[in-house]
Amino acid sequence: MSNTSVHPPQRSEAQRIGVPRETFPLEKRVATVPDVVEKLIKLGFKVAVESGAGEAANFSDDAYRAAGAEIIDGAAALWAASDIVFKVRPPSPEEVGLMREGGILVDFIWPAQHPELMQQLAARNATVLAIDCLPRTLSRAQKMDALTSTAGVSGYRAVIEAANAFGRYFNGQITAAGKVPPAKVFIAGAGVAGLAAIGTAANLGAIVRANDTRAEVADQVKSLGGEFVKVDYEEDGAGGGGYAKVMSEGFQAAQRQMYAQQAKDADIIITTALIPGKPAPKLITAEMVQSMKPGSVIVDMAAEQGGNCELTVPGEAVVRHGVTIIGYTDLASRLAKQSSTLYATNLLRLAEELCKAKDGLAIVNMEDDAIRGLTVIKDGAITWPAPPLKQAPPPAPKAAAAPVAEKKSGHGHGARAPMSAKALAVVFLVAAGLFACVGAYAPAAFLGHFTVFVLACFIGYMVVWNVTPALHTPLMSVTNAISSIIAIGALVQIAPPEAGTGGRPDGLILWLAFAALVLTAINMFGGFAVTRRMLAMFRK
Ligand code: NAI
Repeated sequence: MSNTSVHPPQRSEAQRIGVPRETFPLEKRVATVPDVVEKLIKLGFKVAVESGAGEAANFSDDAYRAAGAEIIDGAAALWAASDIVFKVRPPSPEEVGLMREGGILVDFIWPAQHPELMQQLAARNATVLAIDCLPRTLSRAQKMDALTSTAGVSGYRAVIEAANAFGRYFNGQITAAGKVPPAKVFIAGAGVAGLAAIGTAANLGAIVRANDTRAEVADQVKSLGGEFVKVDYEEDGAGGGGYAKVMSEGFQAAQRQMYAQQAKDADIIITTALIPGKPAPKLITAEMVQSMKPGSVIVDMAAEQGGNCELTVPGEAVVRHGVTIIGYTDLASRLAKQSSTLYATNLLRLAEELCKAKDGLAIVNMEDDAIRGLTVIKDGAITWPAPPLKQAPPPAPKAAAAPVAEKKSGHGHGARAPMSAKALAVVFLVAAGLFACVGAYAPAAFLGHFTVFVLACFIGYMVVWNVTPALHTPLMSVTNAISSIIAIGALVQIAPPEAGTGGRPDGLILWLAFAALVLTAINMFGGFAVTRRMLAMFRK
């Protein structure tokens, strides 16, 4: 049997995408938004939205209607009318019961945590695309990565919740009424949510420190304005695919010691540490909470997976030993309009992949790595977990070193193998021979220009070669600014003529030269200004 099929195969008219109202307690998000409805319709689909589905995220039925969606009253009618259902939270047993036989469901499913739901959906002969199972390391899948967009929103909101519960400013201030020290924020786990929290807290003016078991994130922490705090124990926490692994006992003991010190010093702790398929690691003990200053705040973003703090109560904010511990499990939903818009766009990108012909018919192509990874049930057969992605061939050793490693080694050329002395001598001899030939036969004026050209190439090559790849964008911008040297041409045209050189050029040429000067001045000053701004981002 072929793995590729059209749903339902016998139909040729456009399929209807249905968006029900979310029924999970406190869930305010909705799986599509009016702007995206228009784009789904352009793909050839019909779109139906349950009346009131977008209400909690501030999208009215009228806005959906204006975008071209049908509004259907009641979940039962909506599910019955939909060939494909877009949802946010995994469906309840009642919702599975409403689903069409052989329908397609696109949703967060978490199959490892919901084996019963998987069986129920399979019994409906459904095809289920679990957005949480997207192979995130595939670069072409990033546009569909709802885990990342949701974690970004949640990380931001975690800081806002912390600020709300904290009794002081985040930024330090000196006022007539006294000096306010900046808040100290410690972030445990610097994945997508942790990095969003670091950026938000740093922008609010706090002193931010962060730790992660994956050493590779240290530079990302720094680039967002945080300080990376290392555990004094040599062990790499990378567990594959960008995720973490369970650490050794020795590491955990050293980490606990470091976290105990941070807890005493920090005003706010935000924990985001997760290990796929495992309960969240317990990083903040009851003693650490007790050692914190009264009025401090902990936001435990891992609450739903058991929590990183021993005293977290999932879904609630509690006060223990004078410390507010926030265990909300609906952080993304608390910014419902933002997270719905991002999620809807992720699903739109998925719809584009499913309907490349723009004919309103979804094709679940199991030969496509991204779609295969997402598809956890195909025509009633459970296809989860997907086989591991075919590994790309390992990079050639000379390209393997990262820019940071290059910097540390002190060699501007990093991992690039230096040319052997013999090869270098041959290159020089050939170049000198060619130059001698050109010198012997070319006119004298040409030789002067040619020498300048060769030297310019050499200097340009040396400059670019010695710049870390991460800084190539500012380098391009400064090069662009320097290229405005052509302004000299315009200046020569405008300059008063030298005696005996035959008079000033006519008015048109003067005006053209003036216009060229103005434009190149914009390029020059704009280029330097943009470069300064870009370099400032790296210095932060
Ligand atoms: P996550 O939500 O599973 O984990 C959050 C963070 O907690 C991770 O950074 C992890 O290393 C850290 N952590 C786990 N155990 C810890 C412990 N005991 N102590 C301290 N920290 C601990 O991960 P998330 O945020 O979903 O993604 C993690 C990484 O995956 C990203 O940073 C990125 O490198 C990678 N990723 C790659 C993508 C791509 O290549 N397109 C897309 C999305 C993520």
